[in-house]
Amino acid sequence: MRQKLVAGNWKMNGSKASIKELLNGIKQGIGDVQSAEVAVCPPFVYLGEVEAQLSGTPIVWGAQNLSTEEKGAFTGEVAASMINDFGCKYVIVGHSERRSLYGEDDALVAKKYSVARAAGLKPILCIGETLEEREKGVTNDVVARQIAAVIELEGVAALADGVIAYEPVWAIGTGKTASPEQAQEVHKFIREQIAAQDASVAQKVQILYGGSMNAANAAELLAQEDIDGGLIGGASLKAEDFLTICRAAG
Ligand code: 13P
Repeated sequence: MRQKLVAGNWKMNGSKASIKELLNGIKQGIGDVQSAEVAVCPPFVYLGEVEAQLSGTPIVWGAQNLSTEEKGAFTGEVAASMINDFGCKYVIVGHSERRSLYGEDDALVAKKYSVARAAGLKPILCIGETLEEREKGVTNDVVARQIAAVIELEGVAALADGVIAYEPVWAIGTGKTASPEQAQEVHKFIREQIAAQDASVAQKVQILYGGSMNAANAAELLAQEDIDGGLIGGASLKAEDFLTICRAAG
């Protein structure tokens, strides 16, 4: 049985005050979450505050991005070692917002996956098709290509060191969730793609769903065989909503 993981991707939201309140709320309710792992991914500048507030709790945390460089003259970038320095377990790589707004391509995302893994961080590899790609019927090709980039660079076994998040771009921040059946179909396809190369890695790797997952629709999505948790945007900014999703994960 794969453990479920619910990770909040706070994106570029929050302030010192709001984060304190949000973390207090999550900490207060975390005792009701039975078996799922719960993670939050704040903006870089709040990692210290998150570390201070969550150390000694069952909640873990991660970053939303990382540099491919180790250190040096890369103004504005953040290295894997720095993310480690703040006690992060996870780091998101290849979020669709990074791909579409900041031009990150499959090769760069694979490199980020590799750098994160080498630093002992668990990369959360985001993949997913745009609406146009879905309508063209190339969803499977797109997710297969996005995963293949990591396998080519790192080998299939590397996928067992990370987490995959299937996030259909058309469902992100739109309130349009993939139906449980639509999501399950792609998750199953992803697992089969990996199984074709290594069945044990495929059985082990957690595949999260992301895209307008909320307190009302989480249980149905999380009940699907190949959905091992969620990567939550908007609904992770409200403690009660986020906790409802975490409880639905078990
Ligand atoms: P929303 O839950 O706001 O749709 O965002 C999903 C997401 O992009 C998580 O990484």
